[in-house]
Amino acid sequence: MRVLTIIPTYNERESLPTVITRLRAAVPDAHVLIADDNSPDGTGDLADGLARQDSHIHVLHRAKKEGLGPAYLAGFAWGLEHGYDVLVEMDADCSHQPEQLPLLLDAVDRGADMAIGSRYVPGGRTENWPLQRQLISRGGNLYSRILLGTSVHDITGGFRAYRDTTLRALDLGSVRSRGYCFQIDLAWRAERQGFRIAEVPITFVEREEGVSKMSNDVTIEAATSVARWGLTARAETLARKLGLRR
Ligand code: GDD
Ligand code: MN
Repeated sequence: MRVLTIIPTYNERESLPTVITRLRAAVPDAHVLIADDNSPDGTGDLADGLARQDSHIHVLHRAKKEGLGPAYLAGFAWGLEHGYDVLVEMDADCSHQPEQLPLLLDAVDRGADMAIGSRYVPGGRTENWPLQRQLISRGGNLYSRILLGTSVHDITGGFRAYRDTTLRALDLGSVRSRGYCFQIDLAWRAERQGFRIAEVPITFVEREEGVSKMSNDVTIEAATSVARWGLTARAETLARKLGLRR
């Protein structure tokens, strides 16, 4: 399995060296793609420096901050073009512990089309995460469960491994999600297409350096998108029942 771990970055200068060192030690065969949105703090230059010293590290420079979604879409396109078999999503701030990546890769190896590192299945947890963030995260998952009827427990989770064939089938060209709802968007597409999604318990550790990029815009986009997807899906089901649509 040729594995590419994509790490989106925006102002992650303090965290990046640590996550890269830990990742290269934990899964030495995997390649890494840093997708930087022209971070004002110089993360892009730092990434270039790391790439010069290590042939497993690659950098994608993007012109401006556009959100997690477009950065991952660009990373996926690069990875699929370069023939990787498994594409991994991982945060730069060590909240997703590189040492737990083998758990996700094992799940894919055993037949999952997609593996999600999950905080909300038995054995999964969070460490040092402020109560407010825990509530937003739990609330977001409950909201998605009610509106989408998803059975994924950690649908906003951002530590994931996709088989290349799964991503190729998800019609990525039609993805409009920019913020963290990108995660919900992709998981729900995969679930609706009947792909096998494995949820692997992980420990999500709050970052020690830098700051979260969570914002009101990200929250509002997620709330409205999930409501729209849920209503559209229900309208489609109803139309089918009434024989208006096949
Ligand atoms: N390139 C790029 N552009 N990267 C970004 C952007 C952006 O606009 N916004 C955020 N990132 C990167 C960060 O640099 C980091 O590597 C990763 O995306 C996650 O951002 P954080 O700001 O650390 O997210 P969080 O800790 O608040 O949120 C975590 O929990 C969410 C809810 O469960 C993440 O795991 C999210 O993926 C998850 O949805
Ligand atoms: Mn984080």
